[in-house]
Amino acid sequence: MRIEKASISRLNDTDFSNLKFGETFTDHMFVCDYEYGKWVDPRIIPYKPIEIEPSANVFHYGQAVFEGMKAYKDDSGKIWLFRPTENYKRISISSERLAMPELGESVFLSALNELLTLDSEWVKSGIGNSVYVRPFIFGSEHCIAASPSKKYKFMIILSPVQSYYNGALKVLVAEKYSRAANGGVGYAKAAGNYGSQFYPTGLAQKDGYDQIIWTDSKDHKFLEEAGTMNIFVRIDDTIITAPTTDTILDGITRKSIIKIANDNNIKVEVRPISIDEVIEAHSKGRLNEIFGSGTAVVVSEISSFGYKGKNYDLKKIENSYAETLKSIITKIQYNLIKDPYGWRSEVSAIKV
Ligand SMILES: Cc1ncc(COP(=O)(O)O)c(C=O)c1O
Repeated sequence: MRIEKASISRLNDTDFSNLKFGETFTDHMFVCDYEYGKWVDPRIIPYKPIEIEPSANVFHYGQAVFEGMKAYKDDSGKIWLFRPTENYKRISISSERLAMPELGESVFLSALNELLTLDSEWVKSGIGNSVYVRPFIFGSEHCIAASPSKKYKFMIILSPVQSYYNGALKVLVAEKYSRAANGGVGYAKAAGNYGSQFYPTGLAQKDGYDQIIWTDSKDHKFLEEAGTMNIFVRIDDTIITAPTTDTILDGITRKSIIKIANDNNIKVEVRPISIDEVIEAHSKGRLNEIFGSGTAVVVSEISSFGYKGKNYDLKKIENSYAETLKSIITKIQYNLIKDPYGWRSEVSAIKV
């Protein structure tokens, strides 16, 4: 791998106590090109604008997939990723659905390790501090024929983030708009899945909600995801989450929660859950928690939901499963407790 270091670091000009999510980037980025059927020229270069022709596939036909993960620093200065091979598997699944070429696992993992090693000082220790890692692939061939690009770029950029608490969320259950449809791309982390959520989410925000709970596109009956998180509903002492079908992103936090819950005597059911069942449980006082799960905040509690013009509030519960599960995952990520699952992966340069 070729490495070109930045001549001047921006580290000392960065105010780490005042970071806005996703606006600050580290000194370097990773780039690799796909040409003539092969990934070539993996390199780390200073973070900077890239030149790309206006006819590139990504602008017209949207061949673009990405990943979202985080790097954490423990108190001894070691940097850790959480289940990075799962992100690799998922970007491969996303790429296949978008007719994009597969990356080699070693390209993905060595790029992450080399880049994070070079920009390690940007990762600050302390719970909540991390570097958000954004790998992405897009069609870069300059050709406006509506067909798969023959050229792609795989890049990784890093953005330092600090601890934040965005409060419990007020959500609106979707009755008109859909995030994903059967046979579509909902299970892929395709850029277009996000662009198409902005409009309905903006409408919900005008009505005072933070996010939308996405439901199945056919009947708008079954809960699928909470904004850009997977969703869990706790009825009595069982947490229920939808199975990952082709309309749901297979979240790494979701699958970690299911495993940890099973190992900590928290009952989990993976099955379709309808809004009618949730409302009935609410009316009987059996609806104890709803929460979303995802890399950004691990677990986000939901304090109320709106459905058919009515709002349903959830009382703050003692012995919250959301808090318990968040705490265990966070401690594994920051190397504060043993990791019985082998999920933590220490960052160290692996040259290829
Ligand atoms: C649509 C969607 N669902 C769920 C998730 C949660 O996935 P993960 O736990 O892997 O971050 C994300 C975030 O990445 C997402 O964008």
